[in-house]
Amino acid sequence: MCGVIGYTGKQSAATVIMDGLARLEYRGYDSAGVATVFNGDLHLKKGVGKLEEVEAACLLSRLPGNTGIGHVRWATHGGVTMENAHPHVDCLNYIAVAHNGILENYQKLRRRVVSRHKLVSETDTELIAHLIEEYLVPGAPLEQAVTKAVKEIKGTYALVVTSTVEPNKIVATRCGSPLVLGLGKGENFISSDFQAFLPYTREVVFLDDGETVVMTPGKVHILSASGKKTRKDSVVLDVDLAVREKNGFDYFMLKEIFEQPQAILSAINQEKSALKKAANLVNNSQSVVFTACGSSRYASLIGRYMFSKIAHRFSDVIISSEFCYFGDSVDENTLVIAVSQSGETADVIEGVIEAQSRGAKILSIVNTIGSTLARMSDCVLYLNCGTEFGVAATKSFLSELVILYLLSFSLAGRQEEAEEELKRISELMDENLRLNNDEVPKAALKLAGHDKFYYIARGINFAVAGEASLKLKEIAYVHSEGMSAGELKHGTLALVEEGTPVIAIAPCDDTHEHILSNISEVKARGAYIIGLSDKPDKLFDIHIEIPRVNEYYYPLACIVPLQLFAFHSSIARSLDPDRPRNLAKSVTVT
Ligand code: G6P
Repeated sequence: MCGVIGYTGKQSAATVIMDGLARLEYRGYDSAGVATVFNGDLHLKKGVGKLEEVEAACLLSRLPGNTGIGHVRWATHGGVTMENAHPHVDCLNYIAVAHNGILENYQKLRRRVVSRHKLVSETDTELIAHLIEEYLVPGAPLEQAVTKAVKEIKGTYALVVTSTVEPNKIVATRCGSPLVLGLGKGENFISSDFQAFLPYTREVVFLDDGETVVMTPGKVHILSASGKKTRKDSVVLDVDLAVREKNGFDYFMLKEIFEQPQAILSAINQEKSALKKAANLVNNSQSVVFTACGSSRYASLIGRYMFSKIAHRFSDVIISSEFCYFGDSVDENTLVIAVSQSGETADVIEGVIEAQSRGAKILSIVNTIGSTLARMSDCVLYLNCGTEFGVAATKSFLSELVILYLLSFSLAGRQEEAEEELKRISELMDENLRLNNDEVPKAALKLAGHDKFYYIARGINFAVAGEASLKLKEIAYVHSEGMSAGELKHGTLALVEEGTPVIAIAPCDDTHEHILSNISEVKARGAYIIGLSDKPDKLFDIHIEIPRVNEYYYPLACIVPLQLFAFHSSIARSLDPDRPRNLAKSVTVT
Protein backbone atom coordinates (compact mmCIF):
# COMPACT_ATOMS: atom_id res chain seq x y z
CA MET A 1 0.00 0.00 0.00
CA CYS A 2 2.41 2.65 -1.18
CA GLY A 3 6.05 2.85 -0.23
CA VAL A 4 7.88 6.00 0.78
CA ILE A 5 11.57 6.79 1.00
CA GLY A 6 13.69 9.81 1.83
CA TYR A 7 17.45 10.33 1.57
CA THR A 8 19.87 13.09 2.48
CA GLY A 9 23.65 12.74 2.19
CA LYS A 10 26.47 12.91 -0.31
CA GLN A 11 25.32 10.43 -2.92
CA SER A 12 22.97 11.14 -5.81
CA ALA A 13 19.62 11.14 -3.99
CA ALA A 14 17.73 9.96 -7.07
CA THR A 15 20.02 6.92 -7.47
CA VAL A 16 19.62 5.87 -3.83
CA ILE A 17 15.88 6.52 -3.95
CA MET A 18 15.36 4.53 -7.16
CA ASP A 19 17.32 1.62 -5.71
CA GLY A 20 15.07 1.78 -2.65
CA LEU A 21 11.88 2.13 -4.65
CA ALA A 22 12.72 -1.08 -6.53
CA ARG A 23 12.72 -2.82 -3.14
CA LEU A 24 9.48 -1.11 -2.14
CA GLU A 25 7.58 -1.87 -5.32
CA TYR A 26 5.80 -4.79 -3.65
CA ARG A 27 3.81 -2.09 -1.81
CA GLY A 28 2.30 -0.63 -4.98
CA TYR A 29 2.96 -0.27 -8.68
CA ASP A 30 0.21 2.01 -9.97
CA SER A 31 2.62 4.93 -10.35
CA ALA A 32 5.98 6.17 -9.10
CA GLY A 33 7.75 9.47 -8.55
CA VAL A 34 10.83 11.18 -7.14
CA ALA A 35 11.43 14.75 -5.96
CA THR A 36 14.87 16.17 -5.20
CA VAL A 37 16.13 19.52 -4.03
CA PHE A 38 19.00 21.03 -6.02
CA ASN A 39 20.31 24.58 -6.33
CA GLY A 40 17.37 25.95 -4.38
CA ASP A 41 14.73 24.34 -6.62
CA LEU A 42 12.49 21.33 -6.36
CA HIS A 43 12.98 18.83 -9.20
CA LEU A 44 10.08 16.44 -9.62
CA LYS A 45 9.31 13.62 -12.02
CA LYS A 46 6.53 11.08 -11.82
CA GLY A 47 4.42 8.87 -14.01
CA VAL A 48 1.87 6.09 -14.23
CA GLY A 49 2.90 2.44 -14.37
CA LYS A 50 5.45 0.10 -12.88
CA LEU A 51 8.72 1.61 -11.69
CA GLU A 52 10.73 0.47 -14.70
CA GLU A 53 8.10 1.90 -17.06
CA VAL A 54 8.14 5.27 -15.29
CA GLU A 55 11.94 5.27 -15.29
CA ALA A 56 12.02 4.49 -19.02
CA ALA A 57 9.58 7.33 -19.72
CA CYS A 58 10.81 9.99 -17.27
CA LEU A 59 14.38 9.08 -16.20
CA LEU A 60 13.66 9.59 -12.50
CA SER A 61 17.16 8.42 -11.62
CA ARG A 62 18.72 11.39 -13.40
CA LEU A 63 17.21 14.01 -11.10
CA PRO A 64 19.98 16.16 -9.59
CA GLY A 65 20.80 16.74 -5.91
CA ASN A 66 21.72 14.91 -2.73
CA THR A 67 18.41 15.20 -0.88
CA GLY A 68 15.09 13.83 -2.03
CA ILE A 69 12.02 11.70 -1.52
CA GLY A 70 10.35 8.95 -3.55
CA HIS A 71 7.13 7.03 -3.72
CA VAL A 72 5.48 3.97 -5.27
CA ARG A 73 1.69 4.14 -5.23
CA TRP A 74 -1.26 1.86 -4.65
CA ALA A 75 -4.18 4.16 -5.38
CA THR A 76 -6.65 5.10 -2.63
CA HIS A 77 -7.93 8.68 -3.10
CA GLY A 78 -8.00 9.38 -6.83
CA GLY A 79 -7.51 7.17 -9.87
CA VAL A 80 -4.29 5.93 -11.36
CA THR A 81 -3.24 9.11 -13.18
CA MET A 82 -0.12 11.18 -13.60
CA GLU A 83 -1.70 14.01 -11.54
CA ASN A 84 -2.43 11.66 -8.65
CA ALA A 85 1.07 10.16 -8.60
CA HIS A 86 3.29 11.23 -5.68
CA PRO A 87 5.23 13.26 -4.58
CA HIS A 88 2.77 16.14 -4.31
CA VAL A 89 3.76 19.77 -4.03
CA ASP A 90 2.40 23.03 -2.62
CA CYS A 91 1.30 26.01 -4.74
CA LEU A 92 4.76 27.56 -4.78
CA ASN A 93 6.69 24.36 -5.54
CA TYR A 94 8.64 24.70 -2.29
CA ILE A 95 7.44 21.57 -0.51
CA ALA A 96 7.21 17.96 -1.70
CA VAL A 97 5.32 15.25 0.18
CA ALA A 98 5.14 11.46 -0.25
CA HIS A 99 2.52 9.58 1.77
CA ASN A 100 1.56 6.02 2.61
CA GLY A 101 -1.84 5.75 4.26
CA ILE A 102 -5.28 7.23 3.93
CA LEU A 103 -6.88 10.32 5.44
CA GLU A 104 -10.33 9.89 6.93
CA ASN A 105 -11.19 13.60 7.06
CA TYR A 106 -10.39 14.02 3.36
CA GLN A 107 -13.69 15.69 2.37
CA LYS A 108 -13.55 18.20 5.20
CA LEU A 109 -9.89 19.03 4.52
CA ARG A 110 -10.49 19.38 0.81
CA ARG A 111 -13.30 21.86 1.47
CA ARG A 112 -10.94 23.79 3.75
CA VAL A 113 -8.02 23.82 1.30
CA VAL A 114 -9.71 24.13 -2.11
CA SER A 115 -10.67 27.81 -1.87
CA ARG A 116 -7.17 28.93 -0.96
CA HIS A 117 -4.93 26.70 -3.05
CA LYS A 118 -4.57 25.42 -6.57
CA LEU A 119 -5.32 21.69 -6.39
CA VAL A 120 -4.11 19.58 -9.28
CA SER A 121 -4.92 16.09 -8.03
CA GLU A 122 -7.74 14.21 -6.31
CA THR A 123 -5.43 12.83 -3.63
CA ASP A 124 -5.54 13.32 0.12
CA THR A 125 -1.75 13.76 0.06
CA GLU A 126 -1.82 16.97 -1.95
CA LEU A 127 -3.94 18.51 0.80
CA ILE A 128 -1.13 17.80 3.27
CA ALA A 129 1.37 19.63 1.05
CA HIS A 130 -0.92 22.69 1.10
CA LEU A 131 -1.46 22.49 4.86
CA ILE A 132 2.31 22.47 5.38
CA GLU A 133 2.53 25.44 3.01
CA GLU A 134 0.06 27.34 5.22
CA TYR A 135 2.06 26.66 8.37
CA LEU A 136 5.50 27.27 6.88
CA VAL A 137 6.75 30.51 8.42
CA PRO A 138 9.91 32.21 7.12
CA GLY A 139 12.79 31.45 9.47
CA ALA A 140 10.92 28.70 11.32
CA PRO A 141 11.92 25.05 10.81
CA LEU A 142 10.09 22.77 8.40
CA GLU A 143 9.27 20.33 11.20
CA GLN A 144 7.21 22.97 12.93
CA ALA A 145 4.99 23.34 9.87
CA VAL A 146 4.75 19.55 9.42
CA THR A 147 3.79 19.03 13.07
CA LYS A 148 1.07 21.69 12.86
CA ALA A 149 -0.28 20.30 9.57
CA VAL A 150 -0.40 16.79 10.98
CA LYS A 151 -2.59 17.98 13.86
CA GLU A 152 -5.29 18.70 11.29
CA ILE A 153 -5.31 15.28 9.67
CA LYS A 154 -7.10 12.14 10.78
CA GLY A 155 -6.30 8.71 9.46
CA THR A 156 -3.17 6.73 8.76
CA TYR A 157 0.04 8.10 7.39
CA ALA A 158 3.74 7.69 6.93
CA LEU A 159 4.76 11.09 5.57
CA VAL A 160 8.09 12.06 4.11
CA VAL A 161 8.58 15.75 3.38
CA THR A 162 11.33 17.84 1.84
CA SER A 163 11.53 21.52 1.00
CA THR A 164 13.64 24.07 -0.86
CA VAL A 165 13.49 26.28 2.23
CA GLU A 166 15.88 23.94 4.07
CA PRO A 167 17.48 22.12 1.17
CA ASN A 168 19.27 19.31 3.05
CA LYS A 169 16.47 18.42 5.39
CA ILE A 170 13.89 15.64 5.41
CA VAL A 171 11.05 15.55 7.91
CA ALA A 172 9.06 12.35 8.36
CA THR A 173 6.27 11.30 10.68
CA ARG A 174 3.90 8.38 11.12
CA CYS A 175 0.58 7.25 12.47
CA GLY A 176 -0.57 3.72 11.71
CA SER A 177 1.79 3.20 8.74
CA PRO A 178 5.34 1.90 9.15
CA LEU A 179 8.40 4.13 9.02
CA VAL A 180 12.03 3.19 9.74
CA LEU A 181 14.97 5.54 10.06
CA GLY A 182 18.35 4.40 8.72
CA LEU A 183 21.45 5.98 10.25
CA GLY A 184 24.46 6.32 7.95
CA LYS A 185 27.78 8.16 8.09
CA GLY A 186 27.18 11.61 6.65
CA GLU A 187 23.90 10.39 5.20
CA ASN A 188 20.52 9.34 6.56
CA PHE A 189 17.55 7.42 5.25
CA ILE A 190 13.88 7.02 6.02
CA SER A 191 11.51 4.49 4.50
CA SER A 192 8.43 2.30 4.91
CA ASP A 193 10.71 -0.75 4.97
CA PHE A 194 14.38 -1.00 5.97
CA GLN A 195 15.01 -3.25 2.95
CA ALA A 196 14.86 -0.05 0.88
CA PHE A 197 18.14 1.21 2.37
CA LEU A 198 19.72 -1.99 3.67
CA PRO A 199 22.63 -1.86 1.12
CA TYR A 200 23.73 1.43 2.77
CA THR A 201 23.13 0.94 6.49
CA ARG A 202 21.91 -1.64 8.97
CA GLU A 203 21.62 0.71 11.91
CA VAL A 204 17.95 1.60 12.26
CA VAL A 205 15.39 3.18 14.55
CA PHE A 206 11.80 1.96 14.30
CA LEU A 207 9.49 4.91 14.73
CA ASP A 208 6.32 4.77 16.77
CA ASP A 209 3.05 6.54 16.06
CA GLY A 210 3.19 10.28 16.62
CA GLU A 211 6.98 10.51 16.38
CA THR A 212 8.66 12.86 13.90
CA VAL A 213 12.16 12.51 12.48
CA VAL A 214 14.14 15.52 11.39
CA MET A 215 17.24 14.57 9.42
CA THR A 216 20.06 16.29 7.57
CA PRO A 217 23.19 14.51 6.26
CA GLY A 218 25.06 14.89 9.54
CA LYS A 219 22.30 15.07 12.13
CA VAL A 220 19.11 13.35 13.18
CA HIS A 221 16.68 14.13 15.92
CA ILE A 222 13.38 12.61 16.88
CA LEU A 223 10.44 14.51 18.30
CA SER A 224 7.88 12.79 20.48
CA ALA A 225 4.14 13.17 19.86
CA SER A 226 4.18 16.18 22.19
CA GLY A 227 6.91 17.86 20.09
CA LYS A 228 9.77 17.31 22.59
CA LYS A 229 13.19 16.01 21.47
CA THR A 230 13.38 12.37 22.50
CA ARG A 231 16.10 9.69 22.62
CA LYS A 232 15.47 6.37 20.93
CA ASP A 233 17.93 3.52 20.79
CA SER A 234 18.97 2.25 17.40
CA VAL A 235 19.34 -1.43 16.57
CA VAL A 236 21.76 -3.05 14.16
CA LEU A 237 19.82 -5.43 11.96
CA ASP A 238 21.04 -8.95 11.41
CA VAL A 239 18.99 -9.71 8.30
CA ASP A 240 19.79 -10.57 4.72
CA LEU A 241 19.31 -8.09 1.95
CA ALA A 242 16.42 -9.29 -0.20
CA VAL A 243 18.10 -10.17 -3.48
CA ARG A 244 15.81 -9.50 -6.41
CA GLU A 245 17.14 -12.40 -8.46
CA LYS A 246 14.91 -14.76 -10.40
CA ASN A 247 17.66 -17.41 -10.58
CA GLY A 248 16.78 -18.54 -14.08
CA PHE A 249 13.00 -18.46 -13.57
CA ASP A 250 10.93 -16.06 -15.66
CA TYR A 251 8.83 -14.98 -12.69
CA PHE A 252 9.39 -14.54 -8.96
CA MET A 253 6.21 -16.46 -8.26
CA LEU A 254 7.44 -19.59 -10.03
CA LYS A 255 10.81 -19.31 -8.32
CA GLU A 256 9.08 -18.99 -4.96
CA ILE A 257 6.84 -21.99 -5.68
CA PHE A 258 10.00 -24.00 -6.37
CA GLU A 259 11.63 -22.72 -3.18
CA GLN A 260 8.99 -24.41 -1.05
CA PRO A 261 10.81 -27.66 -0.27
CA GLN A 262 13.60 -25.51 1.20
CA ALA A 263 11.06 -23.21 2.89
CA ILE A 264 9.78 -26.22 4.86
CA LEU A 265 13.28 -26.88 6.18
CA SER A 266 13.86 -23.21 7.02
CA ALA A 267 10.58 -22.97 8.90
CA ILE A 268 11.38 -26.09 10.93
CA ASN A 269 14.54 -24.32 12.02
CA GLN A 270 12.87 -22.57 14.95
CA GLU A 271 14.33 -21.38 18.20
CA LYS A 272 13.24 -24.18 20.55
CA SER A 273 12.62 -21.65 23.32
CA ALA A 274 10.28 -19.58 21.12
CA LEU A 275 8.22 -22.62 20.20
CA LYS A 276 8.03 -23.63 23.85
CA LYS A 277 6.97 -20.13 24.87
CA ALA A 278 4.31 -20.15 22.14
CA ALA A 279 2.99 -23.53 23.29
CA ASN A 280 2.85 -22.25 26.90
CA LEU A 281 0.84 -19.25 25.79
CA VAL A 282 -1.69 -21.57 24.14
CA ASN A 283 -1.80 -23.90 27.15
CA ASN A 284 -2.26 -21.04 29.60
CA SER A 285 -5.11 -19.41 27.71
CA GLN A 286 -8.79 -20.15 28.05
CA SER A 287 -9.64 -19.29 24.48
CA VAL A 288 -7.57 -19.11 21.32
CA VAL A 289 -8.49 -17.03 18.33
CA PHE A 290 -6.57 -16.69 15.10
CA THR A 291 -6.74 -13.46 13.18
CA ALA A 292 -5.37 -12.90 9.67
CA CYS A 293 -6.23 -11.79 6.13
CA GLY A 294 -5.96 -13.33 2.68
CA SER A 295 -3.71 -16.37 2.39
CA SER A 296 -2.66 -16.07 6.03
CA ARG A 297 -6.30 -16.55 7.02
CA TYR A 298 -6.49 -19.77 5.02
CA ALA A 299 -3.32 -20.94 6.75
CA SER A 300 -4.97 -20.11 10.08
CA LEU A 301 -8.04 -22.16 9.14
CA ILE A 302 -5.77 -25.16 8.63
CA GLY A 303 -4.08 -24.35 11.95
CA ARG A 304 -7.49 -24.45 13.57
CA TYR A 305 -8.10 -28.00 12.32
CA MET A 306 -4.64 -29.03 13.53
CA PHE A 307 -5.16 -27.53 16.98
CA SER A 308 -8.33 -29.58 17.25
CA LYS A 309 -7.00 -32.81 15.73
CA ILE A 310 -3.62 -32.92 17.47
CA ALA A 311 -4.04 -30.88 20.64
CA HIS A 312 -7.82 -31.18 21.07
CA ARG A 313 -7.97 -27.41 21.45
CA PHE A 314 -10.94 -25.61 20.01
CA SER A 315 -10.10 -22.27 18.43
CA ASP A 316 -11.70 -19.81 16.09
CA VAL A 317 -10.46 -17.83 13.10
CA ILE A 318 -11.67 -14.28 12.65
CA ILE A 319 -10.93 -12.22 9.53
CA SER A 320 -8.90 -9.31 10.87
CA SER A 321 -11.14 -6.63 9.37
CA GLU A 322 -14.04 -8.20 11.33
CA PHE A 323 -12.10 -8.68 14.54
CA CYS A 324 -13.29 -5.47 16.20
CA TYR A 325 -16.89 -6.72 16.04
CA PHE A 326 -15.93 -9.62 18.34
CA GLY A 327 -14.02 -7.49 20.84
CA ASP A 328 -16.65 -8.14 23.54
CA SER A 329 -15.55 -11.78 23.75
CA VAL A 330 -11.85 -10.99 24.17
CA ASP A 331 -10.25 -10.62 27.60
CA GLU A 332 -7.04 -11.33 29.53
CA ASN A 333 -7.66 -15.09 29.21
CA THR A 334 -7.66 -14.91 25.43
CA LEU A 335 -4.67 -15.71 23.25
CA VAL A 336 -4.78 -14.06 19.84
CA ILE A 337 -2.62 -15.74 17.21
CA ALA A 338 -1.98 -13.15 14.52
CA VAL A 339 -0.68 -14.64 11.28
CA SER A 340 0.83 -12.28 8.72
CA GLN A 341 3.63 -12.66 6.19
CA SER A 342 4.42 -8.94 6.16
CA GLY A 343 3.60 -8.21 9.79
CA GLU A 344 2.32 -4.87 8.48
CA THR A 345 -1.25 -5.62 7.37
CA ALA A 346 -3.26 -2.77 8.84
CA ASP A 347 -6.37 -4.88 9.48
CA VAL A 348 -4.33 -7.40 11.48
CA ILE A 349 -2.61 -4.68 13.48
CA GLU A 350 -5.90 -2.96 14.22
CA GLY A 351 -7.34 -6.26 15.51
CA VAL A 352 -4.27 -6.84 17.67
CA ILE A 353 -4.48 -3.34 19.16
CA GLU A 354 -8.14 -4.01 20.01
CA ALA A 355 -7.25 -7.37 21.60
CA GLN A 356 -4.36 -5.87 23.60
CA SER A 357 -6.60 -3.11 24.90
CA ARG A 358 -8.79 -5.88 26.36
CA GLY A 359 -5.82 -7.60 28.00
CA ALA A 360 -5.31 -10.46 25.51
CA LYS A 361 -1.86 -11.92 24.87
CA ILE A 362 -0.51 -11.91 21.31
CA LEU A 363 1.40 -14.68 19.60
CA SER A 364 2.36 -13.74 16.07
CA ILE A 365 3.53 -15.80 13.14
CA VAL A 366 5.34 -13.47 10.72
CA ASN A 367 8.03 -13.40 8.08
CA THR A 368 9.37 -9.87 8.38
CA ILE A 369 11.83 -9.28 11.18
CA GLY A 370 11.27 -5.92 12.85
CA SER A 371 7.74 -5.57 11.44
CA THR A 372 5.13 -3.68 13.43
CA LEU A 373 3.27 -6.88 14.36
CA ALA A 374 6.45 -8.63 15.50
CA ARG A 375 7.35 -5.67 17.69
CA MET A 376 3.97 -5.53 19.41
CA SER A 377 3.64 -9.28 20.16
CA ASP A 378 4.31 -11.21 23.39
CA CYS A 379 5.90 -14.00 21.37
CA VAL A 380 6.90 -14.28 17.69
CA LEU A 381 7.50 -17.31 15.51
CA TYR A 382 9.28 -16.43 12.27
CA LEU A 383 8.66 -18.10 8.93
CA ASN A 384 12.33 -17.79 7.89
CA CYS A 385 11.40 -18.15 4.22
CA GLY A 386 13.20 -15.06 2.94
CA THR A 387 11.63 -12.21 1.03
CA GLU A 388 8.67 -13.15 -1.10
CA PHE A 389 8.48 -10.87 -4.15
CA GLY A 390 5.43 -12.37 -5.87
CA VAL A 391 2.37 -10.46 -4.68
CA ALA A 392 0.37 -13.68 -4.35
CA ALA A 393 1.60 -15.64 -1.33
CA THR A 394 3.14 -19.05 -2.04
CA LYS A 395 6.17 -20.01 0.06
CA SER A 396 5.02 -17.78 2.93
CA PHE A 397 1.66 -19.61 3.03
CA LEU A 398 3.42 -22.96 3.14
CA SER A 399 5.81 -21.73 5.84
CA GLU A 400 2.88 -20.52 7.93
CA LEU A 401 1.44 -24.03 7.68
CA VAL A 402 4.74 -25.56 8.80
CA ILE A 403 4.81 -23.33 11.89
CA LEU A 404 1.20 -24.19 12.68
CA TYR A 405 1.95 -27.92 12.34
CA LEU A 406 4.98 -27.59 14.61
CA LEU A 407 2.98 -25.66 17.17
CA SER A 408 0.06 -28.10 17.11
CA PHE A 409 2.32 -31.10 17.56
CA SER A 410 4.36 -29.38 20.27
CA LEU A 411 1.13 -28.75 22.19
CA ALA A 412 0.80 -32.51 22.30
CA GLY A 413 4.51 -33.05 23.06
CA ARG A 414 5.05 -34.58 19.60
CA GLN A 415 7.17 -31.92 17.93
CA GLU A 416 9.94 -34.29 16.79
CA GLU A 417 7.45 -36.52 15.02
CA ALA A 418 6.21 -33.48 13.06
CA GLU A 419 9.73 -32.41 12.16
CA GLU A 420 10.51 -35.86 10.73
CA GLU A 421 7.42 -35.94 8.55
CA LEU A 422 7.91 -32.36 7.40
CA LYS A 423 11.46 -33.17 6.29
CA ARG A 424 10.15 -36.19 4.36
CA ILE A 425 7.48 -34.02 2.72
CA SER A 426 10.15 -31.52 1.67
CA GLU A 427 11.82 -34.28 -0.39
CA LEU A 428 8.57 -35.60 -1.84
CA MET A 429 7.50 -32.08 -2.75
CA ASP A 430 10.68 -31.52 -4.71
CA GLU A 431 9.95 -34.54 -6.96
CA ASN A 432 6.26 -33.71 -7.25
CA LEU A 433 7.02 -30.13 -8.32
CA ARG A 434 9.11 -31.32 -11.26
CA LEU A 435 6.41 -33.76 -12.34
CA ASN A 436 3.61 -31.23 -12.07
CA ASN A 437 5.49 -28.40 -13.71
CA ASP A 438 5.23 -30.54 -16.86
CA GLU A 439 1.64 -31.74 -16.39
CA VAL A 440 -0.17 -28.80 -14.79
CA PRO A 441 0.54 -26.24 -17.59
CA LYS A 442 -1.26 -28.57 -20.02
CA ALA A 443 -4.36 -28.56 -17.79
CA ALA A 444 -4.15 -24.78 -17.32
CA LEU A 445 -3.94 -24.24 -21.07
CA LYS A 446 -6.81 -26.61 -21.76
CA LEU A 447 -9.05 -24.76 -19.30
CA ALA A 448 -7.92 -21.24 -20.20
CA GLY A 449 -11.22 -20.48 -21.95
CA HIS A 450 -13.29 -20.96 -18.78
CA ASP A 451 -14.34 -18.00 -16.63
CA LYS A 452 -15.60 -19.76 -13.52
CA PHE A 453 -14.04 -22.50 -11.43
CA TYR A 454 -15.08 -24.32 -8.27
CA TYR A 455 -12.63 -25.85 -5.83
CA ILE A 456 -14.14 -28.43 -3.49
CA ALA A 457 -12.70 -30.23 -0.48
CA ARG A 458 -13.64 -31.51 2.95
CA GLY A 459 -12.15 -31.36 6.43
CA ILE A 460 -8.68 -29.96 6.78
CA ASN A 461 -8.44 -29.59 2.98
CA PHE A 462 -11.39 -27.20 2.88
CA ALA A 463 -9.13 -24.20 3.50
CA VAL A 464 -6.80 -25.42 0.72
CA ALA A 465 -9.75 -25.05 -1.65
CA GLY A 466 -10.16 -21.46 -0.44
CA GLU A 467 -6.47 -20.63 -0.81
CA ALA A 468 -6.22 -22.27 -4.26
CA SER A 469 -9.26 -20.35 -5.43
CA LEU A 470 -7.80 -17.09 -4.08
CA LYS A 471 -4.62 -17.73 -6.11
CA LEU A 472 -6.64 -18.14 -9.31
CA LYS A 473 -8.61 -14.95 -8.66
CA GLU A 474 -5.52 -12.93 -7.77
CA ILE A 475 -3.29 -13.74 -10.70
CA ALA A 476 -5.51 -15.18 -13.49
CA TYR A 477 -8.45 -12.78 -12.86
CA VAL A 478 -10.89 -15.68 -13.04
CA HIS A 479 -13.92 -15.95 -10.83
CA SER A 480 -13.65 -18.97 -8.60
CA GLU A 481 -14.98 -20.27 -5.35
CA GLY A 482 -13.34 -22.58 -2.87
CA MET A 483 -15.89 -24.46 -0.87
CA SER A 484 -16.67 -27.22 1.48
CA ALA A 485 -17.87 -30.05 -0.75
CA GLY A 486 -20.68 -30.76 1.68
CA GLU A 487 -22.11 -27.28 1.09
CA LEU A 488 -22.44 -27.70 -2.68
CA LYS A 489 -25.89 -29.21 -2.47
CA HIS A 490 -27.09 -26.25 -0.41
CA GLY A 491 -26.97 -23.81 -3.28
CA THR A 492 -23.86 -23.66 -5.44
CA LEU A 493 -24.76 -26.87 -7.27
CA ALA A 494 -27.32 -24.78 -9.18
CA LEU A 495 -24.39 -23.09 -10.97
CA VAL A 496 -22.82 -26.30 -12.21
CA GLU A 497 -23.57 -27.03 -15.86
CA GLU A 498 -22.09 -29.01 -18.74
CA GLY A 499 -18.31 -28.51 -18.75
CA THR A 500 -18.02 -26.41 -15.56
CA PRO A 501 -14.50 -27.04 -14.22
CA VAL A 502 -14.53 -28.39 -10.66
CA ILE A 503 -11.18 -28.92 -9.00
CA ALA A 504 -11.66 -31.61 -6.40
CA ILE A 505 -9.09 -31.98 -3.62
CA ALA A 506 -9.33 -35.68 -2.91
CA PRO A 507 -6.27 -37.01 -1.08
CA CYS A 508 -6.24 -40.42 0.60
CA ASP A 509 -7.05 -39.13 4.06
CA ASP A 510 -10.23 -39.35 6.14
CA THR A 511 -12.08 -37.21 3.57
CA HIS A 512 -11.40 -39.46 0.56
CA GLU A 513 -14.55 -41.58 0.34
CA HIS A 514 -16.82 -38.70 1.12
CA ILE A 515 -15.29 -36.31 -1.40
CA LEU A 516 -15.61 -38.99 -4.10
CA SER A 517 -19.38 -39.01 -3.49
CA ASN A 518 -19.46 -35.23 -3.82
CA ILE A 519 -17.49 -35.49 -7.07
CA SER A 520 -20.11 -37.94 -8.38
CA GLU A 521 -22.83 -35.40 -7.56
CA VAL A 522 -21.22 -32.64 -9.62
CA LYS A 523 -20.14 -34.97 -12.38
CA ALA A 524 -23.75 -36.15 -12.75
CA ARG A 525 -24.58 -32.46 -13.52
CA GLY A 526 -21.94 -32.26 -16.26
CA ALA A 527 -18.96 -30.91 -14.30
CA TYR A 528 -15.47 -31.43 -15.73
CA ILE A 529 -13.40 -32.86 -12.89
CA ILE A 530 -9.79 -32.01 -12.18
CA GLY A 531 -8.98 -34.44 -9.38
CA LEU A 532 -6.06 -33.79 -7.07
CA SER A 533 -5.08 -37.00 -5.36
CA ASP A 534 -2.39 -39.55 -4.59
CA LYS A 535 -4.73 -42.17 -6.07
CA PRO A 536 -6.19 -42.00 -9.61
CA ASP A 537 -9.96 -42.38 -9.98
CA LYS A 538 -12.21 -42.92 -12.96
CA LEU A 539 -14.25 -39.90 -11.91
CA PHE A 540 -11.35 -37.59 -12.76
CA ASP A 541 -11.23 -36.08 -16.25
CA ILE A 542 -7.76 -34.80 -15.42
CA HIS A 543 -5.69 -36.28 -12.60
CA ILE A 544 -3.13 -34.08 -10.83
CA GLU A 545 -0.83 -36.25 -8.79
CA ILE A 546 0.26 -35.41 -5.25
CA PRO A 547 2.70 -37.33 -3.04
CA ARG A 548 1.42 -39.74 -0.41
CA VAL A 549 2.03 -38.24 3.02
CA ASN A 550 0.92 -39.04 6.55
CA GLU A 551 -2.61 -38.22 7.62
CA TYR A 552 -3.11 -34.49 8.44
CA TYR A 553 -0.27 -33.29 6.21
CA TYR A 554 -2.13 -33.29 2.90
CA PRO A 555 -2.71 -29.51 2.81
CA LEU A 556 1.05 -29.09 2.28
CA ALA A 557 1.07 -31.59 -0.56
CA CYS A 558 -2.13 -30.29 -2.19
CA ILE A 559 -1.55 -26.56 -2.30
CA VAL A 560 1.65 -26.69 -4.36
CA PRO A 561 0.20 -28.10 -7.63
CA LEU A 562 -2.73 -25.72 -7.23
CA GLN A 563 -0.35 -22.76 -6.97
CA LEU A 564 1.22 -24.04 -10.18
CA PHE A 565 -2.22 -24.29 -11.75
CA ALA A 566 -2.98 -20.64 -10.89
CA PHE A 567 0.46 -19.56 -12.11
CA HIS A 568 0.12 -21.33 -15.47
CA SER A 569 -3.48 -20.11 -15.82
CA SER A 570 -2.13 -16.57 -15.47
CA ILE A 571 0.55 -17.22 -18.10
CA ALA A 572 -2.01 -18.86 -20.40
CA ARG A 573 -4.00 -15.60 -20.23
CA SER A 574 -0.87 -13.49 -20.97
CA LEU A 575 -0.92 -11.83 -17.54
CA ASP A 576 1.85 -10.85 -15.13
CA PRO A 577 1.51 -13.22 -12.14
CA ASP A 578 4.10 -11.28 -10.12
CA ARG A 579 2.22 -7.98 -10.14
CA PRO A 580 -1.52 -8.55 -10.44
CA ARG A 581 -3.70 -5.53 -11.12
CA ASN A 582 -5.22 -3.62 -8.20
CA LEU A 583 -3.33 -5.62 -5.56
CA ALA A 584 -0.30 -5.01 -3.37
CA LYS A 585 1.70 -7.29 -1.17
CA SER A 586 1.57 -5.26 2.00
CA VAL A 587 -1.85 -3.79 2.70
CA THR A 588 -1.34 -0.95 5.14
CA VAL A 589 -4.79 0.63 4.91
CA THR A 590 -7.89 -0.68 6.67
C1 G6P B 1 -2.50 -8.95 0.61
C2 G6P B 1 -1.71 -9.89 -0.28
C3 G6P B 1 -2.10 -11.34 0.03
C4 G6P B 1 -1.90 -11.62 1.51
C5 G6P B 1 -2.68 -10.63 2.39
C6 G6P B 1 -2.32 -10.76 3.85
O1 G6P B 1 -3.84 -8.97 0.26
O2 G6P B 1 -1.94 -9.58 -1.63
O3 G6P B 1 -1.28 -12.20 -0.73
O4 G6P B 1 -2.30 -12.92 1.79
O5 G6P B 1 -2.36 -9.29 1.99
O6 G6P B 1 -0.99 -10.38 4.01
P1 G6P B 1 -0.10 -10.73 5.27
O7 G6P B 1 1.18 -10.01 5.02
O8 G6P B 1 -0.84 -10.16 6.46
O9 G6P B 1 0.04 -12.19 5.34
